[in-house]
Amino acid sequence: LKRLAILTGGGDAPGLNAVIRAAVKTVYHQCDCEILGVKDGFDGFLETGGVNPLTQADVRGILPRGGTILGTANRGNPFAREVIHNGQVVIEDLSGQIIDAIHALNLDVLIVVGGDGTLRIANELFQKGVPVVGVPKTIDNDIYGTDFSFGFDTAVNIASEAIDRLHTTAESHHRVMVLELMGRDAGFIALHAGMAGGADVILIPEIPFHLDAICYKIQERVRSGSHFSIVAVAEGARPFGKEQVFAIPGSETYAARLGGVGNLVGKYINDLCGIETRVIVLGHLQRGGSPTAFDRQLATRLGSAAVRLALNNGFGRMVALQGQRITDISLDEALSVPKRVDIHGDTLQTARALGIAFGDETL
Ligand code: F6P
Repeated sequence: LKRLAILTGGGDAPGLNAVIRAAVKTVYHQCDCEILGVKDGFDGFLETGGVNPLTQADVRGILPRGGTILGTANRGNPFAREVIHNGQVVIEDLSGQIIDAIHALNLDVLIVVGGDGTLRIANELFQKGVPVVGVPKTIDNDIYGTDFSFGFDTAVNIASEAIDRLHTTAESHHRVMVLELMGRDAGFIALHAGMAGGADVILIPEIPFHLDAICYKIQERVRSGSHFSIVAVAEGARPFGKEQVFAIPGSETYAARLGGVGNLVGKYINDLCGIETRVIVLGHLQRGGSPTAFDRQLATRLGSAAVRLALNNGFGRMVALQGQRITDISLDEALSVPKRVDIHGDTLQTARALGIAFGDETL
């Protein structure tokens, strides 16, 4: 009898429950195995009652549900966890405790569903001898080696619906609407939703922008009779030459950046271009709620593939979508290359061909 375990770590993404469900169903249909669920990311290994059997009854009805029934945690790396001892912050390496817990549970494999940070932890555990299989998870779509990750399609749909709604009010009031979207390091959500929603300006981390180029584009629209504009801005987009000013040291959370780039752009358009502007930060609405059919299907394929990879001893690897196929690549490879919007790729070139501004135009 083989014993598998599954955990979900880092920020949630629509489709996590579909992964868990598919893994559990595959375990019960494809082998003489059992599967355990680990609560709240790696933290479940550190708590009494944090690891429990997952049965088919546990996953009944969860396919359309957002979030993760296992819970998640982004309390940092267990290899260097900040803990308070006698009122002082100290860094502790909890990996030994986690590895001991994994051994005590007699696990044959641990399936880790997570983004860049969580998969790095998984890879470190693998280097220390833990049999690990990874499943890529990010609404930002920025994990290398997989064409798409689940959650991205849902986020893009929510963001493009938001742009549709902003269009009607922008047009009625002759205003500019600046919509700040998620995308800390990569601009895939802003680019795809911006194109799907018909944004006039799209700002992404891969292309530092000039505020006057944005203003020029909006004023040009006014001159041609369009007295409203939509600006889609990824939270990680930065003004040219000011990339560092926006990097708040030691603070990588979304909340810490509230009042970030969307407000900067909105204030500039309002005050210096002289066009009434409103700023909307879509935030975690992009991550909550039911996954799209595409994400449910992708998550199901990845969850099932992860179990089958585990049963074939494909440890230290991550399942991935490449073209139409689910395949797998080593965690080392997946984590070695940052995946970013290809600024010379056809999606971006199409957007430029339609006249969408990226803030890097020469005036
Ligand atoms: O990593 C995915 C992401 O959506 C980022 O774009 C965003 O900065 C982050 O999650 C916010 O997550 P949290 O509020 O959980 O830190």
